[in-house]
Amino acid sequence: MAEQSKSRPTPAAPDAPDVSRRRLVAWLWRLPVLAALAGAGFGAREVWRIHFNKPAPADPPTFEPREPVTVAPLAHFEAPWSVREFVFDGRPCLALRLPVAIPGALVVPDVQAPEGEGGELVLAGFSRICTHQGCLVDLNRDVEAIAFAFNHRGERPKLTCACHYSVFDPSRAGRVVSGPAVLPLPRVRLRLESDDGTRTVVADGRERTTS
Ligand code: FES
Repeated sequence: MAEQSKSRPTPAAPDAPDVSRRRLVAWLWRLPVLAALAGAGFGAREVWRIHFNKPAPADPPTFEPREPVTVAPLAHFEAPWSVREFVFDGRPCLALRLPVAIPGALVVPDVQAPEGEGGELVLAGFSRICTHQGCLVDLNRDVEAIAFAFNHRGERPKLTCACHYSVFDPSRAGRVVSGPAVLPLPRVRLRLESDDGTRTVVADGRERTTS
């Protein structure tokens, strides 16, 4: 019996390079899984950020003074949702008449607004540069077109960006209400200047933003 056990062949010692190769292959198989998990985590974070974390505009906004620019005579804004585009501080901007007062807007109490507009003339200025990727936004008065093309149904006109279909609500101080943009449109401070009985809307400050 003792001789038999002596003659049994001893198992070969594990080949060290072979073991490490097998470990490496096992890790290589895990890499796509880890990459997929990381991608899913990043995607979930982006979905949350884009759809559930659109910050409200500051109330009140902080304006930084800039070289004043004439926007338009006050008479230009006689009709509801009148708009005027202009360049301010080297950026495309717009001023529009709103049916409601928002933080940072110019309120003209001695000009009567039609019923349903709160009794005062309200003008607000916004940057036209979309906070998503920098295309220009436009005032879109067609609420049906906004519902159809931009997938956002509301009762009032909006500022829309045709590049990736973001929708900003000027009646909510420029907040994003639909689309991939997250940050609100920066506001522009407006004031009135009088000269010989003619009143003119002037832009003189832009909102400080954290981005
Ligand atoms: S640049 Fe406006 S939505 Fe993308």
